[in-house]
Amino acid sequence: MTAATQKTVPSKSKKKRKGKFEPRIVAFCCNWCSYAGADLAGTSRMQMPPNARIIRINCTGRIDPLFILDALYQGADGVLISGCHPGDCHYTSGNLKMRGRFVLLKKLLEDAGIDPERIHLQWASAAEGDVFTKGVTAMVERIKKIGPNPLRKGD
Ligand code: FES
Repeated sequence: MTAATQKTVPSKSKKKRKGKFEPRIVAFCCNWCSYAGADLAGTSRMQMPPNARIIRINCTGRIDPLFILDALYQGADGVLISGCHPGDCHYTSGNLKMRGRFVLLKKLLEDAGIDPERIHLQWASAAEGDVFTKGVTAMVERIKKIGPNPLRKGD
């Protein structure tokens, strides 16, 4: 084997890592509904993949689109935004504002060549631990199909 061919043969550890892609999900959860729903899922021992890292925020209306872009830029494979149902926002219309931003953000990602399916918006109340769990599970499955974030640097 020449030195040139030795370089092109991937090591076993790289092969193993490539086959075991585990998406990193950043989940922004509003304090009043979805964070409590995530807490309920945990205390009720509902099963969900351990891929999501939750960031608690007061309201989805507080999410600057730059937070989402920054999470993707720093290597998150997907970003989940979870808030109160329309009509239940504790700040009246923060979730509706987020919904408007979300539509624009998806278009922006698409224009930038990043799969817009990497971001997802859902509504989950404090009593809907199952909805939160299903949302995280579906997100992880979707991102596994899409693959790693092209902006993701080595582990
Ligand atoms: S307080 Fe939950 S989305 Fe506004």
